[in-house]
Amino acid sequence: MSVIKKVLISRDELNEKVKELGNKISMEYEGKDLIMVGVLKGGFIFLADLIRELKIPVEIDFISVSSYGSSSKSSGVVRIIKDIDVSITNKHVIIVEDIIDTGLTLKYLKEMLYTRGPLDVKIIAALDKPSRRKVDIDIDYKGFTIPDEFVVGYGLDYASKYRNLPDVCILNEEIYKS
Ligand code: PRP
Ligand code: MN
Ligand code: MG
Repeated sequence: MSVIKKVLISRDELNEKVKELGNKISMEYEGKDLIMVGVLKGGFIFLADLIRELKIPVEIDFISVSSYGSSSKSSGVVRIIKDIDVSITNKHVIIVEDIIDTGLTLKYLKEMLYTRGPLDVKIIAALDKPSRRKVDIDIDYKGFTIPDEFVVGYGLDYASKYRNLPDVCILNEEIYKS
C-alpha cells in the first residue's frame, strides 16, 4: 500500500509559486527593514525556499508554538515554546506559515508580535484551508487554497512524519487506521 493517495500540489508548482511570491515581496519591501519569522516546525521548508527567492536583505528568526491540546486549540490559547531572539521594534515583520487552518495560531501570534512595536506584521502561508477557519484572518501573501483534505509534505506532518516529502500530498486513509 502506498502512503500517498495523490499529489495535490507538485514540487514544480510550489517552486513556481515561491518564486512569484519572492519577487512580489522583494518589490514591496525594497529599502525596508524586514524580518521573516518562521513558525516551527511546519514553516521551516517554505521559509528556506522563500528567502532564497528574495532580492533584498532579510533577517530571519523562528518561533515555536504549541496549542494546549486539541480541545483547547479551539480556545485559541497558544503556548510559546521558543520565542524569537531578536527585537522586532521598528521593523517590518512577515510571519511564515506552511498552512492556515482554523487561523487560531496565526491570530494569536500576530496580536502577540504587535505588542512589541513592529512597524507592521504581515502573514504569508504556503497553503490556505479556508473551510476550517474559525477566526477571520487576513493572509497577505498566499500560495494555494486547498480543499478540506489531510495533506502532508512541504513541511506538513502527520504524527511528526512526512514533512520531507517535496510535494504537497494527500495521505492514504489507511495510514490513519493502521
Ligand atoms: C500546524 C500548521 C500551522 C497550524 C495551523 O502546526 O503548521 O502552524 O497547525 O493551524 P491553525 O490555523 O488551526 O492554528 P502544528 O500545530 O501541527 O505544529 P507543527 O508545525 O510543528 O506541525
Ligand atoms: Mn505549524
Ligand atoms: Mg503539525
